[in-house]
Amino acid sequence: MTNRFIPYIILLGFVFFLNSCAVKADKIYKESDIKIIPKVEKLQLNSGAFKFNEDTKFVVSNEAEKVVANILIEKFKTVANWDLQFTTKSPKNNYLEFKFNKALKAESYLLNVSKTAINIEASDNSGFLYAVQSLRQLLPPAIESKEKVTQVIWEIPSVQIEDGPRFKWRGLMLDLSRHFFDKNYVLETIDAIALLKMNVLHLHLVDDHGWRIEIKKYPKLTEVGAWRVDQEDVPWASRTKNNPDEKGTYGGFLTQEELKEIVAHAQSRGVDVVPEIEMPAHVSSAIAAYPELSCFEKPIGIPSGALWPITDIYCAGKEHTFHFLEDVLSEVMDIFPSKYIHIGGDEATKTNWETCKHCAKRIKDEGLHDVEELQSYFVKRIEKFINSKGKKLIGWDEILEGGLAPDATVMSWRGFKGGLEAAAQGHDVIMTPTGFCYFDYYQGTPKYEPVAAGPVTTLSKVYQFDPVVDTMTEAEANHVLGGQANVWAEHIPTESHSQYMIFPRLTALAETVWSTKKSRNWNDFSNRIPSMFKRFEYLGVNYAKSAYLVTSKVKSNPENKTVSLVLYNEFPESDIRYTLNGEDLNTNAVPFLSPIVIDKTTTVNASLFKNDKPVGIIFKDTIKFHNAVSSRVHYASNYHDRYQGSGAFNLVNTLRGSKNFRDGRWQAWLNKNAEITIDLETEKTINLVTIGSMENQGNAIFYPTKIEVWTSTNGKDFTIQNTINRAYLPNTESELKSFVIDLESHNARFVKVKISLNEKVRERGEGWIFVDEILID
Ligand code: ACM
Ligand code: ZN
Repeated sequence: MTNRFIPYIILLGFVFFLNSCAVKADKIYKESDIKIIPKVEKLQLNSGAFKFNEDTKFVVSNEAEKVVANILIEKFKTVANWDLQFTTKSPKNNYLEFKFNKALKAESYLLNVSKTAINIEASDNSGFLYAVQSLRQLLPPAIESKEKVTQVIWEIPSVQIEDGPRFKWRGLMLDLSRHFFDKNYVLETIDAIALLKMNVLHLHLVDDHGWRIEIKKYPKLTEVGAWRVDQEDVPWASRTKNNPDEKGTYGGFLTQEELKEIVAHAQSRGVDVVPEIEMPAHVSSAIAAYPELSCFEKPIGIPSGALWPITDIYCAGKEHTFHFLEDVLSEVMDIFPSKYIHIGGDEATKTNWETCKHCAKRIKDEGLHDVEELQSYFVKRIEKFINSKGKKLIGWDEILEGGLAPDATVMSWRGFKGGLEAAAQGHDVIMTPTGFCYFDYYQGTPKYEPVAAGPVTTLSKVYQFDPVVDTMTEAEANHVLGGQANVWAEHIPTESHSQYMIFPRLTALAETVWSTKKSRNWNDFSNRIPSMFKRFEYLGVNYAKSAYLVTSKVKSNPENKTVSLVLYNEFPESDIRYTLNGEDLNTNAVPFLSPIVIDKTTTVNASLFKNDKPVGIIFKDTIKFHNAVSSRVHYASNYHDRYQGSGAFNLVNTLRGSKNFRDGRWQAWLNKNAEITIDLETEKTINLVTIGSMENQGNAIFYPTKIEVWTSTNGKDFTIQNTINRAYLPNTESELKSFVIDLESHNARFVKVKISLNEKVRERGEGWIFVDEILID
């Protein structure tokens, strides 16, 4: 080599040196880089990071610790193709060690990550498991990849974490009856919930629509009870009644072997599997298999869809029923080591009990007053049996009716009320109120969602859940074991749909039952959740993106008869942009920064933007402006507490309701007519009145059968302007309709509408009128 090349070589070397510095420069971590869900109790961030490599050792002292360590070892095998090894003695550095520390509370852990080692302390296996779940979430999301990834540095920031759960019961219920999900899905779900430090999987194994657990002594429970006539191509509410002799082809069940495998896997993930064996109602599947379990022994078909009321229930009079249930429960308790057995107890319509001679004899012999006390007798007798096997009974909050069994734990679903009552009586409770915990409910604007049940229960709504009610005494609060999400599966036919309903809402629920109440902060959660979404993507979890969807709300401005439109999604720092009147979102969108004042009919298109491009579903709405917008409304007959819409201006706020009658946009009247007067404040020319209404006869919501429109210039003397009559017609659909009433063009200040429900409908006991908007043009 000649001398003249030497300077170039030195320069080249220097460039290499600089480059390698750039690669090696340690990432400086900020607290906001720690994205663990649920939020940890105490966190201290130190400088530096621990880097895993193929020589990292796992220091363990028993088999259980190996099982926990294997969660990480298997991940590194997949993503890095490393075969990480165990050892029993700590090396100098580059190791992860488990240390037993009996001073720590159950399920709690200390996690100390330094540049040289990771130390985990806990007093039980769950504590070690949760530390490892936190480590997973401290590693880059690609750790969850199902294949090898390159160019990721497997490092964890130096942290000291002290963490433990606020509640003992952090549950998820899967309904395997309404639609059947197999063993693999259950196993997958256990892994997914364990990542969030959830510790109870409640399996709803019995319901009208299918018996899902093999019982050796009663083979027909699954031969007959697990299969229903396939009507999967028909909406749930429209499915027809099945004949007892029609052969079922939709269904399935879990064998005892499969269930044992599920239990064992759950144990390795710190998850307790709690079986629910429904009684005395929600058991059409059992009665279809063994009609003698019912009062009148009439053969029935297993329903394929909506069933209400539930009258085919176990006979509480026959001894045979109790022998059967004791046999079933004995097999169940042999499979599930859980301390708790859930016996359902909800929604029994006891009309058969009122006329059954066996039930009548039982009531007399036991000195009971009524069928409510007969249910209480039923549950108490089952509880005695369960207690005799060293287990505890859980039931839905209906088990309070007629008197609670002495040691029962109550799962409160009809709001918090049952839980409050049970806790006041000194019983343990698990809170699963529908409005926060029912994950079969919609999670976003219904028109963008698959068919679901109930009102909209968004991610942020779930985040507001708290299992303890403010009015509870300390003693009562101590009876609250925790909370649980329930995924009823009537509208959930597939596993990916089930995941869609569970995630991400379970991430929010996990935080409400694990983290301290004080640490609850939606903005902070919003910053952490994108990292979880990346993990779900690697894991193949089909999570919903509904929380990103743009939606709207309006504020009424009575002072100038306009409305202000607000566009938002669930995350506070979203870049939402919009155009008005059909302009192209890609080219003309402006950021939404303040409410848009609407004073004429306006079309709005909006979207979440990422990197200056609209992403996801585009929000589109036409706000129909009219003469009554933001006018004062007087109600001669008040709307029902349950359906208030947005309150005083709901009928004149431009917002139209959806077919989901619980979407918060409807006002409703129960068993009475609605009489509504709108004051336009000045006289206006009026030609047309439009009443927005819905019909959903399955839920006792009916179109009006008569609408009268009256007007006045002074508010005292009203003149009838027009009436429309519409005969009641049976209707199996859920429908929206605008009733348009033409008027002779005239001037008026006051417009009164009288909306009537058909007398025949009212005589049926329950009839609702629903109205979303009264448009005056
Ligand atoms: C229930 O939702 N019937 C417990
Ligand atoms: Zn009976």
